[in-house]
Amino acid sequence: MAEHKIRKHDSSPVAEAYRKVRTNLQFMNIDNDLKKVLLTSAGPSEGKSSVTGNLGLALAEAGHKVLIVDCDFRKPKQHRFFGVSNIVGSMEVLLGEELIRDVIQKTEEENLVLLTTGQKPPNPSEILGSKRFIEMINEIEAEYDFILFDTPPVGMVTDAAVLSRMTDGVILVAAVEQEDVRGLEHAKMQLEDIGIQILGVILNKVPMDEGGYYGYVYNHYYGERSKSRRRNGND
Ligand SMILES: Nc1ncnc2c1ncn2[C@@H]1O[C@H](COP(=O)(O)OP(=O)(O)OP(=O)(O)O)[C@@H](O)[C@H]1O
Ligand SMILES: [Mg+2]
Repeated sequence: MAEHKIRKHDSSPVAEAYRKVRTNLQFMNIDNDLKKVLLTSAGPSEGKSSVTGNLGLALAEAGHKVLIVDCDFRKPKQHRFFGVSNIVGSMEVLLGEELIRDVIQKTEEENLVLLTTGQKPPNPSEILGSKRFIEMINEIEAEYDFILFDTPPVGMVTDAAVLSRMTDGVILVAAVEQEDVRGLEHAKMQLEDIGIQILGVILNKVPMDEGGYYGYVYNHYYGERSKSRRRNGND
């Protein structure tokens, strides 16, 4: 299926919806305490990878320096979304064959760069949770305003849950047509159980009013971060 991708100066409802999510993240990032954001979902094919790519484009369009890290070693997708190769990526850095700065690739958007997965590892979960993976990201973190992590579904594997520990917040992507509320609740609980902050839910594949086709993002709900923190702390 053709990829849906937002473009610069795109005034479609879809592009506008991404800009709204961007505004939310910009507000939460005022003190630079919300830089690393992980996107995941309860099930497969809900749109994590497309939403991550488009959100990265929307942030970059506003002048932020953005790095997208493809963490789905089982089904990497970002290189295809951006039309670049995946011959080398984070795996080669972890294997000591490449330097991180040499494998980060440019995209058509000058403020947006991409770290693809590279070769398939036999043990994806162990890699994402490994000290070395975290150190690799820490090494370059200061160079970016936002780092978005595209991950496998949280309901299927533990990669997303493991990786969530090193990020500042998680956005859940839910495809309306496939939505299983229990699955979404379960994913949310799994993450909250290990102390992960859910920033919000992006609803994807919502039918548009005017036509029969599907829009990327219809709505998003961002929890009020400071309030929920206070509640967790005091009540
Ligand atoms: N809003 C949308 N409207 C129509 N098609 C969409 C929409 N969002 C995603 N798709 C399509 O749905 C498929 C799955 O999207 P995507 O790969 O982004 O999902 P994913 O959650 O990352 O999947 P996976 O679980 O395989 O990682 C792709 O073919 C993509 O082009
Ligand atoms: Mg994906």
